[in-house]
Amino acid sequence: MSMGADYSSRTGATTGDLTVLGLETSCDETAASVVRLTPDGVATVLSSVVHSQIEDHAAFGGVVPEIAARSHVEMIDGVVRRAMADANLGYGELDGVAATAGPGLVGGVMVGLGFGKAVALARDLPLVAVNHLEGHAVSARLGAKVEYPFLLLLVSGGHCQLLEVRGIGDMSRLGTTIDDAAGEAFDKIAKAMGLGYPGGPALERMAEGGDGSRFDLPRALLGRKDCDFSFSGLKTAASRLAQTCETDQDRADLADAVQNAIARQLSERSDRAMADFAERHEQRLKQASPAGEVVGQQGLLFVVAGGVAANKTVRRVLEATAAKRGFDFLAPPMAYCTDNAAMIALAGAERLQLGLVSDIDAPARPRWPLDEARALADPVHPTGRKGAKA
Ligand code: KG4
Ligand code: ZN
Repeated sequence: MSMGADYSSRTGATTGDLTVLGLETSCDETAASVVRLTPDGVATVLSSVVHSQIEDHAAFGGVVPEIAARSHVEMIDGVVRRAMADANLGYGELDGVAATAGPGLVGGVMVGLGFGKAVALARDLPLVAVNHLEGHAVSARLGAKVEYPFLLLLVSGGHCQLLEVRGIGDMSRLGTTIDDAAGEAFDKIAKAMGLGYPGGPALERMAEGGDGSRFDLPRALLGRKDCDFSFSGLKTAASRLAQTCETDQDRADLADAVQNAIARQLSERSDRAMADFAERHEQRLKQASPAGEVVGQQGLLFVVAGGVAANKTVRRVLEATAAKRGFDFLAPPMAYCTDNAAMIALAGAERLQLGLVSDIDAPARPRWPLDEARALADPVHPTGRKGAKA
């Protein structure tokens, strides 16, 4: 039976350990992983294989969708075989298969999702079609036991969102980007500076030894009361300044300025969202403490996930902001910040725990907002405009 747009249905919730094969092919990584989840929420990664296509795309300065899709087709067999071998498991020991069903480059998504469906049919296993963003949202749970709810900053190449995460499939969006994602800004500015692809790590390396204080970069959306982001002004200004850089020191200084500017905006918007989140959860926190006082703000958690969370300056600035607001701070282990299949396997296992499975005809969805209700009621991008994918 289909339950609306997510093509899922509810079976009985499970009670034992769940071992799930996850597949990720929505961008330029072909990844497979086996994760085991206990009933009380402890996740163990039994294997995690990621084949990066960076070399296939480097000459073009960005991901070429057709090349990505073909490479996924060539790699998926071997990557899955290695993930199963590393986990030392046979297909008969799996409880389910989870595959990214979007958002992302549809040619790639179809490869992983199609492969997942084939395994599910051949082995009579439940299929879980996972939203890639939901994978990032749970990724911090791969390194630590994390309780819901928490405030999430999801910063990747395609997305820049603040979300209240109350549980799997239960998230609301507090803010999003009105133009580029933070990772996209890193990538495009790095490209303008001639630093190669992917831009984020290259720009971070370039910024070492740089002093950004000599550059005055624009600050976006100052004074706005919401939690939205904008990086296009910064991108234009930095790309123009890149033309004036003559020495490596110039480039290091500009890279440092750009990195600080991106971290500062992420921090300013997250600070606003933390105030909002803390206010809404005041009641819950009071209830948690029988005496009625808020116990040192415990129970407030800020998580940053997605590729940009691998950036050390971004982490440091956000951690300081969280500390000032009385939030605990958590970022996934580095390996699970950028795209991987362990986060997809975990999201699948959490869904299976609740008895949520997908129909075998679940479609690949190039666009698939996490908070569908909010995205429909308040679209940041009118239909047809280019921009953040959700
Ligand atoms: O999560 P991810 O692997 O893929 C998407 O879902 O988009 O994120 C990739 C993005 C790219 O834009 C990349 O430049 C950025 O994350 N990134 C970084 C760093 N590592 C990856 N940005 C800044 N500093 C880094 N160290
Ligand atoms: Zn991602």
